[in-house]
Amino acid sequence: MADYPVYEFDREEYDKRVAWFRDARFGMFIHWGLYAIPARGEWVRSVERMPEEEYLPFFDEFDPKGCDMREWARIAKNAGMKYAVLTSKHHDGFCLFDTATTDFKSTNTPAHRDFVREFLEAFRAEGLKVGLYYSLLDWHHPDYPHYGDANHPMRDDPSQSNENRDFGRYLDYMHEQVRELCTNYGKLDIMWFDFSYGELRGEAWRGHELVNMVRALQPGVIIDNRIEVSGEGFGSLAEGKPNPWHGDFVSPEQIIPPNGLVDANGNDLVWEACVTMNNNWGYAANDKNFKPASMLVRKLVECVSKGGNLLLNVGPDANGRIPPESRAILNEIGEWMELNGESIFGCGKSGMQKPDIGRVTRRESTLYYHIFENTIGAVPLEGLRRKQVKAARLLSTGAELHLPQNWIYNNYPDVVFCDLGPSPLLPNDTDTVIKVELN
Ligand code: GLC
Repeated sequence: MADYPVYEFDREEYDKRVAWFRDARFGMFIHWGLYAIPARGEWVRSVERMPEEEYLPFFDEFDPKGCDMREWARIAKNAGMKYAVLTSKHHDGFCLFDTATTDFKSTNTPAHRDFVREFLEAFRAEGLKVGLYYSLLDWHHPDYPHYGDANHPMRDDPSQSNENRDFGRYLDYMHEQVRELCTNYGKLDIMWFDFSYGELRGEAWRGHELVNMVRALQPGVIIDNRIEVSGEGFGSLAEGKPNPWHGDFVSPEQIIPPNGLVDANGNDLVWEACVTMNNNWGYAANDKNFKPASMLVRKLVECVSKGGNLLLNVGPDANGRIPPESRAILNEIGEWMELNGESIFGCGKSGMQKPDIGRVTRRESTLYYHIFENTIGAVPLEGLRRKQVKAARLLSTGAELHLPQNWIYNNYPDVVFCDLGPSPLLPNDTDTVIKVELN
């Protein structure tokens, strides 16, 4: 093992590196690969204890003629997403890129395509930042633990013993693939590793060497925290004791942290909640439990109001098409974002108490009150004093909003009320945003 200098965490360099990510707030996660053919989610091999010989036929037929990454990129951009992360290799070990390390790759399927390259080119062309998800687990590689592993499809099969498996050889393979991704595909903005479990974390992955290589090849890249943890656990940066393979952001999965996230010293942490649109990351034909766009807008607002990002997932089908339900949801989110994105991008925690009827985001001296439920009479802007308010506007139209002071409201001199008009219905029933410029 190489001797590394003692690691010194550079807070100033770190804050510069993550600045764009903090401002971006909203990204697309894309889980796609061979598992789109069985269409039962990306863990199908593990959940069904599927032997590789039952899975390999999907390799021989993988030819997603409907896959147009430029369309994926347009869908993401129109939804207001500022970055996207594609699975370059998931736990099944199938590589969506032209790696020299294995034949188990998309360029060897009937598709004969390097989908990572197509993804990066298409999303960069739309002006989005780009990231690659890379699974530390690999259920295809013969040197990865099989029998007795916590997740491997063959974990219950004693005939799949690990006595002749050389994990160091697997680590060489894994590191070489990461080197290829960080060398052959231009500038990467995010490396999204997944995931650590049991004893397999940190140095067990040769994490110090891995992160040093990634940062040397991709100087500005930001890295998630899953060389250390999974969706469970926060990592060494959160503990206030960053180690050399620390993640740059915490990656809560299928949850929005109830109170946001701060480190052991009370400093705000950079975090990104990754959430599925239905209940599967990879395409699942029978999973129609899609979250409504209105709910996802409010969840995005919740993330930002707590100082975090939302990475919202799509699982394209075996033809390479984003499911129609996902397209419709993203289109509806985009309509709201087009009029109200200013209250998301570059925004964060407001420092104000959470209103009963919605949430508050903030950018410098501007507050955005997100109203999810209308009130009887004018809307109370909790925590504000009248003298603080320079102007109040309906964000979506820029229209001036009146701050009434009369017999109804005089009983509450410490509260500023904002009149949204005579209708009992909100201008936008998903989320009506009041922009308040402070003096
Ligand atoms: C979990 C799942 C994996 C998915 C990831 C997304 O680690 O095992 O399938 O890619 O979450 O965060």
